[in-house]
Amino acid sequence: MQKYQINPEKVKQDCLIIPVFEDKGFDTWIKNVDQKLNGLLTKVFESKDFEAKKKQSSLLFISDGEISRVLLVGLGKTKDLTVKNYKEMIGSSVLTCQNKKYENLSLYLSQDLLKMCDAKKLAQETVIACEVAMYAYDDFKSKKEDKITKVKSVNFLGDFEKPDLKNLQKGIDEGFIIASGVNFARHLGNIPPTDMTPEHLGSEAIKMAKENKNLKTKVLSQTEIEKLGMGSLLAVGRGSKFEPKFIIVEYFGTDKSKKPSVLVGKGITFDSGGLSIKPGDYMVDMKFDMLGAASVLGTIKALADLQVKKNIIAIVPSAENMPGGDSYRPDDILTSMAGDTIEVKNTDAEGRLVLLEGLRYATKYSPKEVIDLATLTGACMAALGLEKSGLFTPEDKIAEKMLEVGEEVGESLWRLPLGEEYSEAMKSEVADIKNIGGVGGERYGTASTAAAFLQFFTQDRETGEANYPWAHIDLASAIYGSKGKAHIRAGANGFGVQVLVEYLRS
Ligand code: BES
Ligand code: ZN
Ligand code: ZN
Repeated sequence: MQKYQINPEKVKQDCLIIPVFEDKGFDTWIKNVDQKLNGLLTKVFESKDFEAKKKQSSLLFISDGEISRVLLVGLGKTKDLTVKNYKEMIGSSVLTCQNKKYENLSLYLSQDLLKMCDAKKLAQETVIACEVAMYAYDDFKSKKEDKITKVKSVNFLGDFEKPDLKNLQKGIDEGFIIASGVNFARHLGNIPPTDMTPEHLGSEAIKMAKENKNLKTKVLSQTEIEKLGMGSLLAVGRGSKFEPKFIIVEYFGTDKSKKPSVLVGKGITFDSGGLSIKPGDYMVDMKFDMLGAASVLGTIKALADLQVKKNIIAIVPSAENMPGGDSYRPDDILTSMAGDTIEVKNTDAEGRLVLLEGLRYATKYSPKEVIDLATLTGACMAALGLEKSGLFTPEDKIAEKMLEVGEEVGESLWRLPLGEEYSEAMKSEVADIKNIGGVGGERYGTASTAAAFLQFFTQDRETGEANYPWAHIDLASAIYGSKGKAHIRAGANGFGVQVLVEYLRS
């Protein structure tokens, strides 16, 4: 049986979720339900217990009959509704139901919602909101009663026209695929760091690629990385007892001669800071320092499952950043696979050191564009907070499209600057570039100086010309701390998968 069904003949439901606009009130469909309930919904509305204001909700226990419970959800005013808000409200109602151990849910999709976007998009975003809300990392909950209840069915109910039905189904199917990519990324991120080693990350990529015949994976060993001369990646991994890996996943959805888009994801499986060690409080959550990698793997999985007619490559340089007798040191000078020399000033600025090998390796594909994703700087989190991620690119066209798509899927990006002053700040006295720098002070502008550092490796070594169009996303909003939110549980949130999927498939 399909988990998501549209107007099924027999509706089995533990709860009927009804989203309502504040300025629209009850439409005919809801009025019909209201009649069956002897006007209960009207009474709730008139009593002002529920006014359909944004994020307001009211759970009503009815009876043991056809409609046992109703969850009224306020969507606020029509003109103010964003995709992000909509998904949060749908997600929080589903999560509430799941926490109450309801297994079969129904969700009303009104004509007012259908007027705001097409049926396919509505179904797609709704399914993503539901699936993201229902995901729980409970592998380590040892008692059965502490495990999260699996929701068995979600029925979409409403007065749908015939063409809508086809589009709704398409949206359900695609939404489910995209959500699987998001939750795959979250799952990788949530695995504890002693288990989630670079090798483990590589084997997860291989396992994932085996499920789709159009995906091919290569995981390069330490010896192969040495042969390629990736001195910067090797250095970061030297303090760890786990070998670094360089993971490549290829998807050819169209003619191989068409230039691919290349994604590069930071795959630091734990960031202790290395010898420039982090204070204890700052080390918590550093298992999430591979979320750039997780998102690019989730993205390529989704694009392959959607059978997108594009060529996509995902590259993940992966290492663990640990202190140890053989750790790389501040003052070391590293040499990349392309021969760039990098002065190490701080071993905690390690993400950029692994990414640069990915950016240099990417030129091999003569890419159409390269987009990297990384939990790169605390400064980006300080600047934007945890609801938006930073976008850095010299390409206005990429920026425009990426920002637009971000709003369309509810993953918000904010463009931050690159420029001469940031690049200047990274100049080294003794090597081609150094790994930290600030503008007007050590600690100033460091999200942009980190981005400028990466930009250096997207340019030709002789001419300084860009090798390919490039964008960098600093994943400030990849983690929802220890408590989570009403619409999503704590841990990795998979930021990046949705925006990249839509950006790359359109
Ligand atoms: N992985 C961190 C950045 C980070 C911090 C991500 C907090 C998510 C949450 C990165 O490797 C790092 O340590 N960056 C340093 C750079 C500094 C040494 C220039 C930072 O942001 O403090
Ligand atoms: Zn670090
Ligand atoms: Zn890091």
